[in-house]
Amino acid sequence: MEKKQRESWGSRMGFIMAAAGSAVGLGNIWRFPYMAGSNGGSAFIIIYLVFALVIGISVMVGEFAIGRRTQLAAVGAYKSINKNWTFAGVLGVLSAFFIMGFYPVVGGWASAYILKSFTGLLSNPAAIGDVFGAFITSSVEPVVWMLIFLAANILIVAKGIAGGIEKAGKILMPTLFALLILIAIRSITLPGAGAGLEFLFKPDFSEVTGQTFLAALGQAFFSLSLGMGCMMTYGSYLNKSENLPNNALIVTLLDTSVALLAGIAIFPALFAFGMEPAQGAGLVFVVVPQIFAEMGSLGVVFSAIFFIALTVAALTSSVSLLEVVVAYLMDQRGWARVKAVYTAGGIMVVTGILSSLSMGTLSGFKLLGVGIFDFFDILTDKIFLAIGGMLLAIFIGWFVKREDLEDELTNGGTVKFGLFNIWYALMKFVIPLAVLVVAVMGIISIEQTGLMIFGLGVIVVLALFSKKL
Ligand code: PFF
Repeated sequence: MEKKQRESWGSRMGFIMAAAGSAVGLGNIWRFPYMAGSNGGSAFIIIYLVFALVIGISVMVGEFAIGRRTQLAAVGAYKSINKNWTFAGVLGVLSAFFIMGFYPVVGGWASAYILKSFTGLLSNPAAIGDVFGAFITSSVEPVVWMLIFLAANILIVAKGIAGGIEKAGKILMPTLFALLILIAIRSITLPGAGAGLEFLFKPDFSEVTGQTFLAALGQAFFSLSLGMGCMMTYGSYLNKSENLPNNALIVTLLDTSVALLAGIAIFPALFAFGMEPAQGAGLVFVVVPQIFAEMGSLGVVFSAIFFIALTVAALTSSVSLLEVVVAYLMDQRGWARVKAVYTAGGIMVVTGILSSLSMGTLSGFKLLGVGIFDFFDILTDKIFLAIGGMLLAIFIGWFVKREDLEDELTNGGTVKFGLFNIWYALMKFVIPLAVLVVAVMGIISIEQTGLMIFGLGVIVVLALFSKKL
């Protein structure tokens, strides 16, 4: 059978937008502020930045290189270089599945808030927190929104790379950026905003524990879409003439600046309103409407646009998660794109419903001590992604030929990558060790021991049995 030409990105800008679209998502705007809020603010942010800018960027360069070199998505990429490493790719596909177990739920919340902006959410600012609590714990409304969000994913990914994902990212990412700047300006100019800026930028390391490091590392990987073969998959659609380290730098800088901007948009306002920084998953859904509530009808429009942008940011990320699973089914199983999308999407409908219900109706049901939503979230963010990133670094440092890497990263010697030796040493020695130390420190101090043992067990089982996949 003749080999089909691999799909590729329509343009350079298209790739950057799609990769940045994958990176920038709920992780930056919903998750980053609440992680920062519940881990003490600025010390967490500094640790997160160091992880993102040193470990994150290096791992991203590595994922792009392996993806483009092999022209295969995660599982195939590992497998084609070394069969024993197939499990690391499979772990990535599993991570994508698990993240898709909770991500569409929050994507659904964001979509629902577009409509809620118009239907009186802002008219009673004091009730905004209660409205959020009542909404996410109810058993029909958030499920319906989750399904709408998931359906959008399925339609986009079914259309294929250049057609769907690329177009959606190109238009809506800049909108989001502009809106965040607007909200940030409003937030810092509120009376009493100074305390929020202090919380963001004046570090207090006395509260830092092993947990803080693990949370910051997990957040860095999650936010940059690393440690699960997503950027590898995107890299496999990348043109041979692109400069990989430059692309990784641009995507990382865009991603971290959006996270910081989200922090600047939220915390000054939060302190100005006298609210609690450690209030968890509701943060963005409670603070942002409150900022807009006092702006009258203009606020309603801004709030709606904000949640449209958040929904789209979430969508450009979740399509990349679905794409990881779909690319695996296509590359390794020979499935047609549409069949792969509908099958994977169908399973995600089930996990999404369970996850959404775990906020209310099923809140009594625990898996290894946590609800279903948290099960998917903690397992990926605290274990799978960090270990996935570490495995990639070990793989690159010890199992891929140095000359091949140099060749790929310099496009066969045609572009310069002056930091190659430093990058290589980071991948070979520093990152595996650093992730190991952080993971051990974090894992031994984590409350959910059962969950940790389960997560590590899954990785070991995959390592032992996944050669056939
Ligand atoms: N980076 C995305 C976000 O910050 O929302 C989430 C994500 C997408 C994680 C794709 C992992 C991934 F492969």
